[in-house]
Amino acid sequence: MRLIFAKDYEDMSCEAAKIVSGQLYLKPQSVLGLATGSTPIGLYDRLVQVHQTVGLDFSGVTTFNLDEYVGLSSENPESYHYFMKEHLFSRVNLRPDHCFVPNGMAEDLEEEGRRYDALIEQAGGIDLQVLGIGRNAHIGFNEPDIKFEAMTHKVRLDDETIRANARFFAREEDVPRYAISMGIRNIMLARRVLLLASGPEKAEAVYAAACGNVSPKAPASILQLHRDATIIADAAAAARLPEAWREHRSYHF
Ligand code: PGA
Repeated sequence: MRLIFAKDYEDMSCEAAKIVSGQLYLKPQSVLGLATGSTPIGLYDRLVQVHQTVGLDFSGVTTFNLDEYVGLSSENPESYHYFMKEHLFSRVNLRPDHCFVPNGMAEDLEEEGRRYDALIEQAGGIDLQVLGIGRNAHIGFNEPDIKFEAMTHKVRLDDETIRANARFFAREEDVPRYAISMGIRNIMLARRVLLLASGPEKAEAVYAAACGNVSPKAPASILQLHRDATIIADAAAAARLPEAWREHRSYHF
């Protein structure tokens, strides 16, 4: 695992944008795994900027989002599909038919999970998976549990996640209770993983991801076993990590 210690949110987003644009320069046909939430917005803004200023080309890129709320269509402004259109898909030259998000409106969510996993496989697997992290160390909507779920599946959201995500809805009662999410095996099969964390409310989760026991009770901890995982944490999110690590801009173990 590699850790990059960023000063603040801006610095974290810049470092992430360098890694993602580097990936696209090296492999213009890359398959990206993408995340929603407040954390990656700065990354997406910078990618749009690089696209507009120096022509970073997304025309050969395919994207797969981690998750979607059950019961929200892509036209619903609170859906993750809508979020992606607003923050990235409509602002760069991605082909709409190359941008995939699980369908939260599917009647049979198990079948939808299988369909989504097959699409990822047909695309050749994910080259670089971007992740945020929940306060409870979830990745995607893989909530703390007694076992890891492998593939794309329906999940009941934790009360903590519902509270944390209520800020995107008019009322907490409006937050869907269920989602469909890629599983841990989907994430672990990505060739590279890039997890972003910002703010003091993520410090415990970042500690669990990098230093805790590998356990489904802290899903991000599995990334310690990934062959090419990088965490970019800003100073507040990295605050619980050993000081000897934080003295460096980046640390490998
Ligand atoms: P956030 O969500 O970026 O809005 O904090 C991250 C997550 O829950 O994975």
